Amino acid sequence: MNVIVILGTQWGDEGKGKIVDILSSKVEMVARFQGGHNAGHTVCIGDKTFILHLIPTGVLRAGVRCVIGNGVAIDPKALVDEIETLKKSGIQIEGSLFISRKAHLILPFHQKRDMRREEIKGAKKIGTTGRGIGPAYSDKMARTGLRVEDLQYPDIFAEKLGELAGEEDPGEIEAVCEEYLRLGEELKGYFADCSILVNAAIDKGEKVLLEGAQGTLLDVDHGTYPYVTSSNCTAGGACVGLGVAPTRIGKVVGVAKAYTTRVGNGPFPTEQINGDGDTLQSEGKEFGATTGRRRRCGWLDLVVLKYSQRLNGFDSIVLTKMDVLDSFQTIPVATAYRVRGETVTDFSFDAGLLDEVEPVYRQLKGWNCATKGITDYKDLPAEAKDYIRFIEDFLEVDVKIISTGPGRDETIFKENLDNWLK
Ligand code: GDP
Ligand code: IMO
Ligand code: MG
Repeated sequence: MNVIVILGTQWGDEGKGKIVDILSSKVEMVARFQGGHNAGHTVCIGDKTFILHLIPTGVLRAGVRCVIGNGVAIDPKALVDEIETLKKSGIQIEGSLFISRKAHLILPFHQKRDMRREEIKGAKKIGTTGRGIGPAYSDKMARTGLRVEDLQYPDIFAEKLGELAGEEDPGEIEAVCEEYLRLGEELKGYFADCSILVNAAIDKGEKVLLEGAQGTLLDVDHGTYPYVTSSNCTAGGACVGLGVAPTRIGKVVGVAKAYTTRVGNGPFPTEQINGDGDTLQSEGKEFGATTGRRRRCGWLDLVVLKYSQRLNGFDSIVLTKMDVLDSFQTIPVATAYRVRGETVTDFSFDAGLLDEVEPVYRQLKGWNCATKGITDYKDLPAEAKDYIRFIEDFLEVDVKIISTGPGRDETIFKENLDNWLK
């Protein structure tokens, strides 16, 4: 059971960063398998806040080796900047970070195309993070992309870049070529065959955490297409994005926020565009960790979580941001949808119908007192325990960790961590 996949169950920003940081204290390696610097994973340690974008969250724990897998899309400039920022905070990077030579590169043209495509879409824009993610993955799939390994060979890099950037200004292509080769020089000490590294760690009996970015409903295949990101954020993505066989995965852990948020556009059945949504937004300080955008907020959607459970097969759930619900008298939770006169409990729609669904809510009793900072399950109010039990019963999966604040210590372990990770 040494390999643990940890994923977002909703539309991202579930609090994966905090949870991966906690679990990192018990593992030797943390590996990212998809996404890019569209991700923003927040970790609060004492009065310091770290936001990780490309580098696995394990980097904040001394001695943990961090892998950026082949499934990640890398903007080398963003990566160098992130390394510099972490180093300035005293974080050890040399010897701890490994970058897959097979990972694809995000180029400045990708970012321009990302913005341009959004402009053309106008009101129907995805609301991307503008980081060039979609165009970079498009080139990967079109087999025209450039990979980290290309940075090692200036002639090959220049030739491939010329082919890819065809219609761009030649002066600009040359400047990009020069800049990327320079960044490649800075980064080359970290290049590795990451599939070998991760598999060797597993062979040695080390514990390895596979860290997902974004969330299940943003998965390019299974999410709310086309309002998704361009990678597979679901459990299968972990194998493909690192070169690890499914038979080696021991556990899949889903991180779920106690309510729901979404950044960017697209369907969101339980969204509350009203005072309740505003309360969730302000109490939860729901601003994007990457773009600073205000997150859309709504009630917990168990239809979504059940779907996420089907796709990922979670062994257990980590429930975050319980404290944000502290002030509500009643907490609605969606258990089904009404769509075109029918009641459905399966999240199985053609994309166009999702805008029409009406959630069916179960009204759960709020606890209306502070859970912030609680560390012992026994100290939770009865209504909060009922809320957790309702989720467990509905999903038929245990909630093993409950987060009651952004800090490392503001966490309830329902089961001893060492036992659970055994
Ligand atoms: P990620 O992308 O899944 O890692 O999540 P983000 O870092 O983008 O967003 C989660 C936000 O919630 C961050 O600001 C965290 O510091 C904060 N957070 C995490 N867990 C809790 C919690 O239990 N309670 C509260 N109030 N904040 C939390
Ligand atoms: P973490 O890892 C929340 C959203 C964007 C947009 C859509 C596509 O912090 O949970 P993209 O730039 O990927 O092409 O944008 O996906 N998105 C996220 N939303 N958390 C994230 O990452 C996200 N990464 C992308 O807002 O709606
Ligand atoms: Mg985030």
